[in-house]
Amino acid sequence: MPITLTINDRPIEAVAGQTILEAARANGIVIPTLCYHPALPIVGSCRLCIVEVEGARTPQAACGLVAREGMIVRTETPALARDRRTILELLLANYRDAEYTAADRDDTEFEHWVKLYGAQCPPGSTPRPQRKVNSDPNPFVWVDMNKCILCTRCVRACADVQGRFVWRPNGRGARTDIVAGLETTMLEARCESCGACAAFCPTGALDNKMSVDAGKPDKKVTTTCAYCGVGCQFDLNVKGNRIIRVTSTPNAPVNGMRLCVKGRYGYDFAHHPDRLKRPRVRKYLLETPNSKHQIPKSSLQSEWVEVDWDTAFDITARKLREARDTFGPDSVGVLTSAKCLNEENYLMNKFARQVIGTNNIDHCARL
Ligand code: FES
Repeated sequence: MPITLTINDRPIEAVAGQTILEAARANGIVIPTLCYHPALPIVGSCRLCIVEVEGARTPQAACGLVAREGMIVRTETPALARDRRTILELLLANYRDAEYTAADRDDTEFEHWVKLYGAQCPPGSTPRPQRKVNSDPNPFVWVDMNKCILCTRCVRACADVQGRFVWRPNGRGARTDIVAGLETTMLEARCESCGACAAFCPTGALDNKMSVDAGKPDKKVTTTCAYCGVGCQFDLNVKGNRIIRVTSTPNAPVNGMRLCVKGRYGYDFAHHPDRLKRPRVRKYLLETPNSKHQIPKSSLQSEWVEVDWDTAFDITARKLREARDTFGPDSVGVLTSAKCLNEENYLMNKFARQVIGTNNIDHCARL
């Protein structure tokens, strides 16, 4: 059942059960958020999303307030801007980043709102004790808890999205920290390095080790992961024609914000100097194309030589036929790949059983 409310003097139609934040966003109205993420359970802890609701004595958190028929809401007023600036300044008092001296950067969500509301670190504030930068040996996730604002998005992402329960708040009040397990390393706390915590972090306290100093991308290219048959989508962040980072595509139909360690971090092969871009065959196969079962006479003859696809296919077909005719069909095995389409795997099945005549066929997704 649709309901009607007014946001910023505009009549808005919302779906029953939608929050003010969801209704506003669906109608292109921006309300700042930090602890909220649409893929996570709502905790309503940062209060940055406060809005004025007619009849309410105090500002209300839009992320957790369900829209009701006839509500009159304002999302940007001088009083709200002042309150949001105060909230951000309280967070800045505890935020330590050696390079972040002024509110002039907007690389992260947090920095974006700080800049927008002109928040400044309150003079004379005593920040939390300095934490170690890059404090966890995890090979993929960069940990700098000096930038943590205790929004708990990492905690909820790990528990509710990934089901690993690596991160948790530790301590109380001003002494609260986010820690892995029982203050162990991430890997000791069952981390599988999926990077979800870094993907959801709004401040860069958790980031991708491979990209932490890579800067801003020139463009993002949405693509499909080539590692397995699930077909997860993500954005390749490209700078100077090189991939510098993989970020989640929130609306990806298969995986949403989720990615595995290979999808999020296994992209360095794309620019690796050893990457094969054309087929290669052993030199001796070119020198004596018609002799059967050649054994290379010297290591020189075993060298790899780059050839065109037709030559490579001809040699492959000839050697497979030779093996089948000489040693029987079961001397050949076929391994297919989850990177192929279903149709391609079907054809490989036909090729193994009907062309070669063997049942020796398997698929990498079973390994
Ligand atoms: Fe609503 Fe944090 S975004 S309370």
